[in-house]
Amino acid sequence: MIAKRAQEIAPFLVMDVLERARMMEQEGTHIIHLEIGEPDFDTPQCVKDAASKALEQGRTHYTHSLGDRALREAISQYYLETYNVSVHPDQIVVTSGTSPAMFLVFSALLERGDQVIISDPHYACYPNFIKFVQGVPVTVPVYEEDGFQYRPESIEEKITGRTKAIFINSPANPTGNLLSESRMQAIAEFSPLIVSDEIYHGLVYEGKERSILEFTDNAFVLNGFSKLYAMTGLRLGYLIAPQAFIRPIQKIQQNFFISANSVVQMAGIAALEGSAEDDVARMKRIYNERRQYMVKRLKELGFGITVEPTGAFYVFANARHLSGDSYKLAFDILEKAHVGVAPGVDFGSNGEGYLRFSYANSLENIAEGLDRIEHYADKQSPIEQLG
Ligand SMILES: Cc1ncc(COP(=O)(O)O)c(C=O)c1O
Repeated sequence: MIAKRAQEIAPFLVMDVLERARMMEQEGTHIIHLEIGEPDFDTPQCVKDAASKALEQGRTHYTHSLGDRALREAISQYYLETYNVSVHPDQIVVTSGTSPAMFLVFSALLERGDQVIISDPHYACYPNFIKFVQGVPVTVPVYEEDGFQYRPESIEEKITGRTKAIFINSPANPTGNLLSESRMQAIAEFSPLIVSDEIYHGLVYEGKERSILEFTDNAFVLNGFSKLYAMTGLRLGYLIAPQAFIRPIQKIQQNFFISANSVVQMAGIAALEGSAEDDVARMKRIYNERRQYMVKRLKELGFGITVEPTGAFYVFANARHLSGDSYKLAFDILEKAHVGVAPGVDFGSNGEGYLRFSYANSLENIAEGLDRIEHYADKQSPIEQLG
């Protein structure tokens, strides 16, 4: 009875860890959450005020299917000011989060059997979006010693007549690393379209993130408000596409989603027009303190971090000194140390042997979580026990 596509879609393993953690919490166990991929900060007050105001003003109806014009103009202005690139508001489609934006892009782009190159490890959902619309994800391994950056020559080897797009994500989930300007330039010069997930832009603590649009117009941008503005539950994102794709994407949006949430779009304008600037700066400063602390402690505990992550809010650490099986290890740490961590294998087979630690939690909780892991590791007779 159940359609093949629904049967075959892979679960998001980190959610398994989270659900088990929640169950343990209900039974009275105190858990430290380092597995969660969302900001722990409250949404900026100006964003909440703008949403309340929009509600009071009765802005509760459908908007234009591409998104409120004022929001699209604010996004266009933001890309101009931040990256010095010119994006026409009519090249922007506002969506209920970055995830639906990804669905729209792949729906408009892929025929059955078309290939999309993604890195391994990668954000767990990427291959599922591609497969859902009958595309084929083609993975290119990226390595710890390279800061998990693509090697352009490894991408080139995988390009075939069926390659429709190359997917990039910088800063990246799960690694927290950035793609260098020179590698980005080299990738932009390949002929397939580039799909660039820029959702962690703004959360960069050393160096500078670059938009793919600084290198080529032959690209789609995916972006949203979830991470930088701590707006995960409000569900607001957008895509930027080459003009020829806008009408097809708009038709899919009209049929499947009609428009993004009207009230939240008003909140998005407030976030972009500068009123959230101070909150963003404060969150960024605190993330950076936590990042420095976490990297230092993890190294002291024997985890491998060859190139320190400088973006997003993740550390992807080599945990092979404890186990080669990251799924078992994550659950063992949860059961015995009461700390939630994400298994590296959730992000691709090349992520096996790693754990993803999120620093979207207070410094106090991070310290407590790492103390517990230290105690766990001391008591562990590694390798043999967990394989
Ligand atoms: C790399 C990446 N892209 C997209 C998303 C989805 O974000 P949104 O909340 O905008 O749908 C996430 C969420 O964790 C992510 O890590």
